Amino acid sequence: MKIRFFFILSIAVKFLTAQEEKTVLPIIPQPNYISVNSGYFSLSDTTVIVAGKDLFEANYLKNYLKENYDIDVRIDPTYPPFKNFISFLSILSNSTESPDPEFYDLKVTKKGISIRSNAGAGSFYALQTLLQMLPLEGSKRINVTNFQIFDSPRYKWRGMHLDCSRHFFTKEEVKKYIDYLAMYKMNVFHWHLTDDQGWRIEIKKYPLLTTISSQRKETVVGKPVDTRGKPLPGVKYDGKPHGGFYSQEDIKEIVAYAEARHVTIVPEIEMPGHSLAALAAYPQYSCTGGPFETYTTWGVSDDVYCAGNDSTFHFIEDILSEVIGLFPGKYIHIGGDECPKVRWKKCQKCQSRIKDEHLADENELQSYFIKRIEKYINSNSRQIIGWDEILEGGLAPNATVMSWRGTKGGIAAAKQQHNVIMTPGKPCYFDHYQVKDRSKEPLAIGGFNPVDSVYNYDPTPKSLSISEQNFILGAQGNVWTEYILNFKQVEYMSMPRMSALSETLWTKTENKNFKNFLTRLNLHSGLLDKRKVNYAKHFITK
Ligand code: ACM
Ligand code: ZN
Repeated sequence: MKIRFFFILSIAVKFLTAQEEKTVLPIIPQPNYISVNSGYFSLSDTTVIVAGKDLFEANYLKNYLKENYDIDVRIDPTYPPFKNFISFLSILSNSTESPDPEFYDLKVTKKGISIRSNAGAGSFYALQTLLQMLPLEGSKRINVTNFQIFDSPRYKWRGMHLDCSRHFFTKEEVKKYIDYLAMYKMNVFHWHLTDDQGWRIEIKKYPLLTTISSQRKETVVGKPVDTRGKPLPGVKYDGKPHGGFYSQEDIKEIVAYAEARHVTIVPEIEMPGHSLAALAAYPQYSCTGGPFETYTTWGVSDDVYCAGNDSTFHFIEDILSEVIGLFPGKYIHIGGDECPKVRWKKCQKCQSRIKDEHLADENELQSYFIKRIEKYINSNSRQIIGWDEILEGGLAPNATVMSWRGTKGGIAAAKQQHNVIMTPGKPCYFDHYQVKDRSKEPLAIGGFNPVDSVYNYDPTPKSLSISEQNFILGAQGNVWTEYILNFKQVEYMSMPRMSALSETLWTKTENKNFKNFLTRLNLHSGLLDKRKVNYAKHFITK
């Protein structure tokens, strides 16, 4: 049964590839099997959603139809799904059809819409596909083209990151960002919550993190460094305080919001570097004792957590204990990137640690730091993720590596049988410019990652053996916000690169085609307009 299903699926996929021009539907990411049929389903007040009354997807759809088309449908689990229905059906878990919890089958005929999925995200993804297929306008009655889609993703990790430290974004903006992920069937939100320039998460045991570390007195204006990273003379500051944090209640609300949309949040608490904001409030956990201020410029602070002081570890473990209590996901991101070693080199405590632990140098001290924290996190039944610097001095035994300085770190980690998320600067940093001509673009950090480079990126390096390739969980787009001043600009830098990345992660390579993507993007942009998204329009020709 299973073999036959996939055989039929693979023929259908070939048919789709050959028929590319005929099957352009305004859906991103491109589903893996589509058949378009003649006719349409007419949806109106008399349509009934056949589902349990508490099914999130059913209520989401009911509200969406009311808000967008003034259509009032009812939810009735006992309604027979023969005529004028939208049914949600769970495929039994012993089904041989497809065990993938993200799989869905969405079929629209003139009689109704049926959604079949396994217990899991499938019905939510079917709903997202359906919403993209609804007409942009309409009141009281809308027609939905007849089609059938079978779909499931290529990768398990389909991520987007947002840096809320360099610039703070409100709870409502973060929810909006999660909505965009959900629209594109992305399932991981990597939430960058701490850095030199601001601490954004309430920790009850350390209240100064919110009163002091969440604030900076001002911010450097424009780009403070030349193309080689050297500070420019006469840099200016805006003289305006910038700050904000998420209370634990805010975080619980956002976690629940994401969970309902099948998005797992991976919180990032940076260590041992990128920690100046925390040290501004608690300087006793640095090598020098301070005093410090939350960073007002970009770049990396030399002052980092002291690795020779046991109380530093207790401080971080207390913080992590609250973080673990707030975020139910498997992973806690501990940063690990760009930690200058200048303070450690001169610190007596750090040097004693190197001696006592028989470490070769400061790189091994960083590895000691991460391994010690990993032990704590593992003992709380969670796993760590770190940026690829955590390879230096030896990888912690169970760590997942996020490869950002190219793909080298990811490849090395996969060869050591560690899980990997690919997020190489090129093309996964969406804070880089998206077009060559910078003259009309908002100031960005640099680089050039156009939409097509994101679309054509293949996260699985061919240099890995098949078994090593299995360690590549997926990829992620990163939105660092040194030069992204507000949420409208987050949207501009993210979209449509997020749209392109979602297809890289969801759609099988043989079903991808950039020209076809652009055609669909143009159709789909109507929905982005309707949702008032400030997407970049370089590829919009309508
Ligand atoms: C990074 O961009 N420093 C991970
Ligand atoms: Zn030290």
